[in-house]
Order: sequence, then structure tokens, then C-alpha cells
Amino acid sequence: MRVGVLTGGGDCPGLNAVMRAVVRKGVQEYGYDFTGFRDGWRGPLEGETVRLDIPAVRGTLPRGGTILGSSRTNPFKEEDGVRRIKENLAKHEVDALIAIGGEDTLGVAARLTDAYGIPCVGVPKTIDNDLSATDYTFGFNTAVTVATEAIDRLHTTAESHMRVLVVEVMGRHAGWIALHSGLAGGANCILIPEQRFDLDQVCAWVTSRFKASYAPIVVVAEGAMPKDGEMVLKDESTDSFGHVRLSGVGEWLAKQIEARTGKEARTTVLGHIQRGGTPTPFDRWLATRFGLHAIDAVRDGEWGTMVALRGTDIVRVPLAKATEKLKTVDPALYEEAGVFFG
Ligand code: F6P
Repeated sequence: MRVGVLTGGGDCPGLNAVMRAVVRKGVQEYGYDFTGFRDGWRGPLEGETVRLDIPAVRGTLPRGGTILGSSRTNPFKEEDGVRRIKENLAKHEVDALIAIGGEDTLGVAARLTDAYGIPCVGVPKTIDNDLSATDYTFGFNTAVTVATEAIDRLHTTAESHMRVLVVEVMGRHAGWIALHSGLAGGANCILIPEQRFDLDQVCAWVTSRFKASYAPIVVVAEGAMPKDGEMVLKDESTDSFGHVRLSGVGEWLAKQIEARTGKEARTTVLGHIQRGGTPTPFDRWLATRFGLHAIDAVRDGEWGTMVALRGTDIVRVPLAKATEKLKTVDPALYEEAGVFFG
């Protein structure tokens, strides 16, 4: 048996840890061979491969990024995409594929399995934690850790100058990073894409924080929107899955707060720092367990499934179910955090 592996979408701490576990268990226990495909779905589409064996994954557990490279290539947007993938899998004698990715990469894997009979198993990755059917995706804990450390640091500089500090974190449609890091970092308020915010309310919270002689930290997800406005886009371009580029709401918010409250405001955009560098111990643990269970799913021929975390168990769920809708922040969970606003 030869198993192909690819990593697609935005990179994420823990990708290498998954592959290390897949390869170690696959080689040692099942005698499988592996082929790495470069840059997500671009690899099988163009037949671009990378050696993937035990020496190739040695030492990669703490390494951020992905040794295979990643891209947001959508084979369904390419001419003869499915035929080319089938031909390249046959050419490299690959019997099955493990796709490690978020909703887009796994959505392609689900379709390739269900509609075209290409045997795929999925592993959920994304710092956004917005995939249904799994309690957590790996990479999320690292992103929250990075954001929380930044918020801790911003508290001291905000208080020294008695300024507002707006922290923009990632999260296009789901505010998980904002909610978790905002709570962990003691934010004055947290703004998420799932709940439109009222600028007057935000300014009232900021003002009340200054009255208590503290400087407010406002945590805002890049996809958060004011009650009567739209998402702030970086530019109008979209990727091959139709996603726009966000970022800018933090700058916009700081200007509005400054104009309305008369308090000085600054913005920090955390951006790709949240995705880079070494995974936290939790993400290494989760990624490793996902890898061990993904290769078991291959051994069992459970095509069209994804490994998922439920409590402390790793289970298998249908890929199609995992990608049919985004996991967004429950309003009750957001409301719970409201006690600390203002
Ligand atoms: O999906 C992961 C993610 O980091 C999102 O939070 C963010 O909106 C997007 O990717 C950024 O994409 P890119 O790296 O292509 O700018």
C-alpha cells in the first residue's frame, strides 16, 4: 500500500506532527510506503511529489509550517482537474490519500471520494477552529496562546500611556480565537463575526474602563462587523475557493473610538504571527493523535471519513458532514464573556 499525503489551505502549527505520526505508524506497524504531494491539491494535480519516509519526518514534531508546502489550489476550478489527479495518483502508484486541511481542502477530499471514488481520509486543521464535527482543530491552541501573550504585553503599554489598544486577530466567519484569547487576556470587550457590534456600546465600555483607571484592550476578529456596516476588506481579490482577504477592521475601530471618546487609540494586527512557529504541547498532542488515527482509518479502508476529537476520544466522522457547515461561536458562549465587558 502506498499512501499519498498533502497539506492544503493556510498553514498551521502541528501539520508536521500529524505527518510524523502518520508515517511512523504507517511504516512501523503496517509496512506502508508514502508519497508527499507538494502544495495542497496542486501536488496531485501537477504530479509534484516530495519524499516522505521516516528520515524525512524526523525532528519535525516541534517545527511550524509544513514540510510539504501548502496552497489554496481548488482542483475543481482547473481544467480536467479530477482526471489529472487520477492519472497522477496512478502514475505514482498511490492507493489512498490523506488530506490535512480546513473546510476547503477537506471539502475537495469529500467530493473526490463521494463523487469520483478516490479513496481519501481527512485530518482537520485550522487555527480558526471553525470545523464542525470536531471539538478542536490543531493549530487553534497555538494561535490563542500567541494572541493571549500579545494581549498580556499590550496591557502594560496601554496602561503606561492610558491609551486604548485594539488587537485584531484572525477569524473570518468564526470568532473562536478572539473569544478565547480575549477571555484569557482580560479584554475590555471582544468583537466577533457572529454578532454585529454597536459602536456606541463599544465606546461606552471603553469610557467606563478609563473611569476605573485602567486602559482598555479591545479584541476584534478580522471578520467582525458594525451593526450598520460591512466587513472591512484588504482588497477585492478572492482565492480559488472564493474567499476575500480581510484585515483593516482594527484600524477602522481605533479611529472611530478615538474620534468618539477623545482617547488616544492604537491598533496591533497580529496577522500571520498567529499561524507561524512551533505548536503548543496541546497542538502537538492533538496533531499526533490525529495522525495515528488517520493511518488506522486508511488501514480500515474507511474512505470519506475524517478523524475528530470528541472529549478526549478520537473518532471518525463522515468528511461530508464535517464540511457541510462552519462551526461558529454559540451566542450563549459569547454572552457568558459579557460580564467582563466595560
Ligand atoms: O483559515 C486560516 C486563516 O489564517 C484565516 O484566519 C485568515 O482569514 C486566512 O487564513 C488568511 O489567509 P492568507 O494566509 O491566505 O492571507
